[in-house]
Amino acid sequence: MKKLLKILGIIVGVVVLLVIIGVLTINFKGIPFYDTQEIKLKVETDSASVANGEKLVGLTCIGCHANENNVLEGGIMEDLDPAFGKAWAPNITSHPEKGIGKYTDGELAFLLRTGIKNNGQYSPPWMPKFPNMADDEIEDIIAFLRSDHPSLKASETVQPAPEPTFLTKMLCNVAFKPFPMPDKRIEKPAASDKVALGEYLANDVSHCYGCHSADFKTNDDYTPTNSIGLYGGGNKLVDLDGNIVPSSNITMDKNTGIGNWTEEEFIQAVRIGKRPDGSPVPYPMPKYGLYTDQEVSAIFAYLKTVPIIENDVKKMTEN
Ligand code: HEC
Ligand code: HEC
Repeated sequence: MKKLLKILGIIVGVVVLLVIIGVLTINFKGIPFYDTQEIKLKVETDSASVANGEKLVGLTCIGCHANENNVLEGGIMEDLDPAFGKAWAPNITSHPEKGIGKYTDGELAFLLRTGIKNNGQYSPPWMPKFPNMADDEIEDIIAFLRSDHPSLKASETVQPAPEPTFLTKMLCNVAFKPFPMPDKRIEKPAASDKVALGEYLANDVSHCYGCHSADFKTNDDYTPTNSIGLYGGGNKLVDLDGNIVPSSNITMDKNTGIGNWTEEEFIQAVRIGKRPDGSPVPYPMPKYGLYTDQEVSAIFAYLKTVPIIENDVKKMTEN
């Protein structure tokens, strides 16, 4: 009996030691580095590409990278859950050293797809990745970033380095991995294929599922439809005062979701942030005014195909 206890004691001791070594290693290693891949790319900077890129950057980048004067010199991510640490969106103006003048077109495409920066370091989930965005649109974004738009005028600002918590470092070492570079071109669905276009806009461009599923930690950013509680809401978001704002259930459940909403009501909520009862849709829900009515109507058509989830999420305005 004594011998058994002694053996058990040794096993427990070894396990504790291994855990301590693991924690120290991850803490010391921090956010991991990966091999970069050289991508040969020179984007077309014709006016149609730049215009579409401006729209996409307005929809998917400025929320984090623009300052209050709409210059893309970055700033602190105010609504980041403190459990993940502190992060600042960097300066992505055209400045040759302090902005993204130091990135080639290929390096930008590689980062947007895989999450690996040009120095090889992985970007934690606070920088979104676009593994399923159409190649034409990735290239349009880069075309706009190369344009002489006033929001991209070279800025000297250097944002602080991120301060990831142990949780973020651990997740980036064991759970989150860079996405593969696609091996063939990805096309954007045609406007005539309404549901496919809506799925593309919601899942691959605007990442609506990201906030509107159960939890960032159980989202699948490579295959969004595998996210737990897809569009059933309840993900605990944080507003600018640090209050928890659970995301809404936007599946078509008639009692707890938006199953009774008309298309017009949905378009109004998504584009201008007004609910059918006239109340505002609270922060951090972005306003998607840059989408056309047709595009938001396509998202609505897609949501009608998503499995219904019954999940009664308390609205902020009901608290
Ligand atoms: C949710 C906030 C957020 C959004 C949206 C976002 N970014 Fe970022 N971005 C960040 C953060 C934070 C980092 C720093 C990543 C790190 O710590 O490694 C970053 C890093 C970058 C970098 C690397 C800069 C460098 O100096 O290495 C580039 C380039 C970039 N983002 C471009 C974009 C583009 C283009 C878009 C839109 C398609 C976009 N980002 C959308 C937050 C965001
Ligand atoms: C940054 C997180 C975030 C993203 C991204 C996001 N939402 Fe939201 N959304 C919210 C929050 C928070 C609410 C309001 C929760 C509340 O009322 O308490 C909300 C509310 C809504 C509502 C109103 C639901 C209701 O019952 O009042 C709709 C509709 C909606 N979002 C659709 C979308 C669509 C479509 C997209 C993508 C184009 C999207 N959201 C992207 C966070 C987000």
